[in-house]
Amino acid sequence: MKSFSAFSGQTLFFALITLSFVNIAVCNEGFCSAPSILDAQPLYWKVTNPTLSPSHLRDLPGFTRSVYKRDHALITPESHVYSPLLDWTNTLGAFLITPSIGSHFVMYLAKMQENSNSGLPPRDVERFLFVLQGVVTLNDVLGTKHKLEVDSYAYLPPNTEHSLSSDASATLVVFERRHDYLENHTTEQIIGSTDKQPLLETPGEIFELRKLLPTSLPYDFNIHIMDFQPGEYLNVKVYCPL
Ligand SMILES: *[C@@H]1O[C@H](CO)[C@@H](O)[C@H](O)[C@H]1NC(C)=O
Repeated sequence: MKSFSAFSGQTLFFALITLSFVNIAVCNEGFCSAPSILDAQPLYWKVTNPTLSPSHLRDLPGFTRSVYKRDHALITPESHVYSPLLDWTNTLGAFLITPSIGSHFVMYLAKMQENSNSGLPPRDVERFLFVLQGVVTLNDVLGTKHKLEVDSYAYLPPNTEHSLSSDASATLVVFERRHDYLENHTTEQIIGSTDKQPLLETPGEIFELRKLLPTSLPYDFNIHIMDFQPGEYLNVKVYCPL
């Protein structure tokens, strides 16, 4: 199970978008996974494909497993509503988190189609994107092209010219946030992939943790990838008064 969490320095905001079964252990200390159709699916396929709802409830208007709370949300695919994204071409977007529910960032899925192109975020807004399906090409401010495959990501500082394009179907999750400037500190473009990030210590926990952005002062948020094997869960409960 993979989950994304967006954390910021000032307040704890927890956004969980996807449960996706990957790397299911075959047989380990008494736990065996039966071969299942889930194993054959690509990484992150559950982000856009409703699979856990009972078949007789699938596509039933009003049926959803989504939960929105003050400090977290679990948003399942049947709640996604796609519409065109401003300034993007051949792309549909589904907004999952926006400031209208009290967050200080926007989180949306972007489904790019053939010959699609991205628009730019508003002025002073930083952008983080993560590829969930397909391949996209990032053309950065220097004109360098970067091919981003599934599980890779990019951070674009505010007011940085760039564009994303795709020749075929591709799905991204995008976070955008009005950057909190700190005098004499600037952020830089970052391009990476999840598996190249080191596993971090998680005292008292058994899940695998990776951070996708530097934890240095200029960066005002971070994205954590937390990998849970079937049956694993968070042991330490964090209470953070807002
Ligand atoms: C920022 O840099 C300038 C020039 O080096 C310096 O005068 C100023 O004190 C710095 N500001 C802070 C908050 O460190």
